[in-house]
Amino acid sequence: MNWKEDYKRKVSKPEEAIRDIRDSQCVVMGHAAAAPRLIPQTLADHCEDYNDVLIFHMTTLGDNPCYQPRCYGHFRHVSNFLSANSREVVERREGDFFPAYFKDVPSMIGNDIPCDVAVFQTTPPNDEGYCSLGVSCDYAKAAIRAAKTVIVETNDKMPFTYGDDMIHVSQIDHIIPCSYPLQELILPAPGEVELAIGRHCASLVADGSTLQLGIGAIPDAVLQALADKNDLGIHSEMFSNGVMELMRKGVINGRRKTLHPGKAVVTFIMGTNELYDFVNENPNVEFYPVDYVNSPLVIAKNERMISINSCLEVDLQGQVASETIGMRQYSGIGGQVDFIRGASLAREGKAIIAMPSTAAGGTISRIKPFLTEGAAVSTSRNDVDYIVTEYGIARLKGRTLQHRAEDLIRIAHPDFRPALAEEYERRFHCTYTE
Ligand code: COA
Repeated sequence: MNWKEDYKRKVSKPEEAIRDIRDSQCVVMGHAAAAPRLIPQTLADHCEDYNDVLIFHMTTLGDNPCYQPRCYGHFRHVSNFLSANSREVVERREGDFFPAYFKDVPSMIGNDIPCDVAVFQTTPPNDEGYCSLGVSCDYAKAAIRAAKTVIVETNDKMPFTYGDDMIHVSQIDHIIPCSYPLQELILPAPGEVELAIGRHCASLVADGSTLQLGIGAIPDAVLQALADKNDLGIHSEMFSNGVMELMRKGVINGRRKTLHPGKAVVTFIMGTNELYDFVNENPNVEFYPVDYVNSPLVIAKNERMISINSCLEVDLQGQVASETIGMRQYSGIGGQVDFIRGASLAREGKAIIAMPSTAAGGTISRIKPFLTEGAAVSTSRNDVDYIVTEYGIARLKGRTLQHRAEDLIRIAHPDFRPALAEEYERRFHCTYTE
C-alpha cells in the first residue's frame, strides 16, 4: 500500500488511540523534551476507565498529567531515572524506581520491561513516509519494535534530525497529527562556584578532545570555560544549549574526532527552542539509540575522550554517589559509569566527576568520610578517575586509600577540612598536613 493511504487510514484522535490500551498492560512512553503530551493528558482525563496500567518512562520535563494522585490505582509508574515530578510520585509510593544503566533500556524493553503499547512523539512523515524521532532517539526504536500497539504524536514543531532516528508510517498503528511547543529546559546562569569548577575541568581538556557532558548545573559552566579551545568534538548521552554556542563559534567542530568525524553524536537533547531550531535538519548533529551512544566500547573509539559528570557526594575512598541522597532516590545512573569506563578505555581518555564542594546552601560537605547511610554507589572506587571541585582537582586513579583521602581533603570546602582531617588521622594513624 502507498504510505500516504496507510497514513490516512491510521490518523486517529487521542480518545480513539487510548482504546487500544487495556487494564494491566504496560505502556512505554518517550521522555525528556520528546515526551508525548496528548496521550498522557487523555489517559489522565479518562483514568477511571483503567486499572493498574503500568507506565514506563524516564526523565519528564514539565507536567505529566498521569502523575496526579487521582490517577493512582489506574496507573502505576516505573522508571530508572527520576526528575522533580516523578521523584514526588515515587515518594508518595505511587510509582517505583528500578536501578539500570540507560544503555540497557533498549534490550530490556520487551523482556524485563514489558511493552504492550509504545507512545512516542515524532515529526510528521517526510516524502518517503519516514518520521524523525527528533530531539530524543533513546529507546524509541526498541519500544516500537516490541510493542503490540504503537501510538505516535506527529508534532510539526518537532525538529527533523539525522542519524539513526527514523521510523516509518508502516510501523505505527495510531498517528495523531498535532502542533505544540516542545518542553524547554532553561538552565540558570552558572554562579562563581560552577565557573571555578568549569575552569578546573577545562585545564584537563586538550585541543582535539571529544566530550561527554552529563546532566545538571555543571556541564554548561564547563562549556563556557572551553571557549579558547580548538577542534573539540561531542559524543554524549545528552547536551544542552552550551554545545550549540560552541558549535556556532567553531570551537566544537568534530574535525579531530576518530569516530563520526565532523558530527556531534548524541541520544537526546534538552534545552531551549533556540537549540531545537539549531538541530532541525542540521547535518552536523546526529542522534543514535542509547545502546549505541552509551556503549563503553563505542565511546572508547573516540581518542582523547573526556567524560564530565556530576555527583551528590564522594567518600574519602573515592566512592561516588550520584543518584541518591541517603535512602532517597534523587535521579538515576543514566550513562555515568558507561562514559567513565568508555573514557578510561579510550586512548588519552579522562573521566571527570565535577561537583560543588558543598550542598544545601553550604551547610553540608559533599566530600565525606563515609557516604550517607543508604546511599547507592554509582561510580565505584575502582572506576573513579578525576574529582573536581571549585578548590581544585584530585586525581584518584592509581592512588592509595591514604593518598586519595589527602587529595580529597585538599579540594573539600575549608570549613569542613578539619573534621575530614580528624577522620584521616583516626583512619591512617598519622597527622594530616595541607
Ligand atoms: N546531601 C544533601 N543534599 C544534597 C547533596 C548531599 N550530599 N548533594 C546535593 N544535594 C541537594 C542540593 O543542595 C540541591 O538541592 P536544592 O535543589 O534544594 O538546591 C539538590 O540536592 C540537587 O543537587 P545539585 O548538585 O544541584 O544537582 P544537579 O541538578 O547539578 O544534578 C546530579 C547533579 C548528580 C543529581 C546529576 O548530575 C545526576 O543525576 N547524575 C547522575 C546521572 C548522570 O551522571 N548522568 C549523566 C550521564 S550521561
